[in-house]
Amino acid sequence: MTQSVRFLLGGRVETVAVTDPTQTVLQWLRANRRVGTKEGCAEGDCGACTVVVGELADGEAGATIRYRAINSCIQFLPTLDGKQLITVEDLKQPDGRLHPVQQAMVDEHASQCGFCTPGFVMSLFALFHETGSPPDDTRIHDAIAGNLCRCTGYRPIVAAARRCTAGDRHDRFGEAEAETIAWLRDLRRDDTLAAAGDGKRLMAPTTIAGLAEALAEHPDAVLLAGGTDVGLWVTKEHRRLDPVIYLGDVAELKRVEETPTHLEVGAGATYSDILPLLTRHFASFAEMVRVLGSVQIRNAGTMGGNIANGSPIGDTMPALIALGTTVVLNRGGEHREIALEDYYIDYKRTALQPTEFVERIRLPIGVEDRLFATYKVSKRYEQDISAVCAGFAVTLDGGRVAGFRAGYGGVAAVPKRARHLERALIGGPWSLDGVTAALPALDRDFQPITDMRASKDYRRHVARNLMIKFYLEAAEGTGATRLSRHG
Ligand code: FAD
Ligand code: FES
Ligand code: FES
Repeated sequence: MTQSVRFLLGGRVETVAVTDPTQTVLQWLRANRRVGTKEGCAEGDCGACTVVVGELADGEAGATIRYRAINSCIQFLPTLDGKQLITVEDLKQPDGRLHPVQQAMVDEHASQCGFCTPGFVMSLFALFHETGSPPDDTRIHDAIAGNLCRCTGYRPIVAAARRCTAGDRHDRFGEAEAETIAWLRDLRRDDTLAAAGDGKRLMAPTTIAGLAEALAEHPDAVLLAGGTDVGLWVTKEHRRLDPVIYLGDVAELKRVEETPTHLEVGAGATYSDILPLLTRHFASFAEMVRVLGSVQIRNAGTMGGNIANGSPIGDTMPALIALGTTVVLNRGGEHREIALEDYYIDYKRTALQPTEFVERIRLPIGVEDRLFATYKVSKRYEQDISAVCAGFAVTLDGGRVAGFRAGYGGVAAVPKRARHLERALIGGPWSLDGVTAALPALDRDFQPITDMRASKDYRRHVARNLMIKFYLEAAEGTGATRLSRHG
């Protein structure tokens, strides 16, 4: 077992004897005189705390480093083990010159009070390190959607992003890549990290078997994946988590594979890892994931965590239910596979048994002539929680509905399959009249409630209207609306 956490910072290996395994990266940085990184909200919303994490990745031309922006305010320090941490202090050149990203911010007058600026700089630094052609404005907006600025306004920041990514993107991180790769290889470990302090413990196994074993030994442990839900339990709810088992070091859980029949998504794969395959197969699902949280949230958060957390307003489950997704559960090495809709029993109650965990998510692909779309309705387009979410999949036989699946979020205590609606549609005509006639069945599926996001009547109307919208988008000859057409 390894006891201390080791990561690369400022060109050297930092070995940290953990004093509290749920101390956040931001708390550690600020306690260790790296105060360039700021705290705004401490809940992953504002981006003032953005840092970049470098990890080894296998590229076509061999090993490379993948730089990703994350929110340091909700990441626990031990999750950095074996990685490279880059903060705003690291960007300045040894001779005092600014990094091209910083220089572009100066040249475009993209900072006023500066509280948000280190976070923007780090988000742009990650963008600067993306390979390929210069990012277009959509990509730039995505990159900074998780950074809030109240003074400067975004126009000059976007201009800075364009400026620093327009030409050759060289910096000393690129120059030192081979050396950094060697360091990161050296930091790799095969054994379980066991960090303890302040009466709390955190274990980070590196294999699925090790994870199952750790859970069997600690049935009361909190599982930690990307921490974009769990981190807030500590920073906002001040919960004392002990023990914690971190699954982000289990490489097998991070795999995303395509077989002829399924996308097989490891429970530890982040949204950013999954997006390329989602884009290829389910355009509207990818479009929704592109606005799930921010790039910092998608770089850490997992679909496995979304499913396991089981929030009634989690965004991915309605789409996954509509697609007929199953989840593979592991308990002490024994596997079982269940339909996602059967995973949810009641509010905060799932089918997961003690010591069991979600290992894999299986999305059926290659279903002939299936039309699919998913929709999220929230007050803001980006960085917002849904009021209502829905996913629909239809197969047609001539003008009739041969198969239909619908999943909804935000209208019941759990993400739910709309079985009454499905029954009302299957076998009937695929027409506006047919769809409209089936809509009252939704009242038997759900009785939405009123809360701060929406009233029950609004939710009821939106649930119906999304079904109509799907019909209009899927039917021949009608125009697509804002979201991309079914994939
Ligand atoms: P974690 O926080 O690590 O874990 C979440 C829960 O799942 C915990 O109960 C954990 O114990 C359990 N768990 C994790 N992995 C497993 C496993 N393999 N087996 C069993 N249990 C497991 N969500 C949305 O749906 N839409 C949004 O737009 C959205 N925006 C957000 C914006 C912000 C700023 C933040 C902070 C969060 C947002 N979220 C959103 C919530 C969150 O990002 C998602 O729910 C995310 O998918 C959680 O994944 P994670 O890996 O971070 O899970
Ligand atoms: Fe606001 Fe971290 S402090 S996102
Ligand atoms: Fe003040 Fe952005 S410069 S918040």
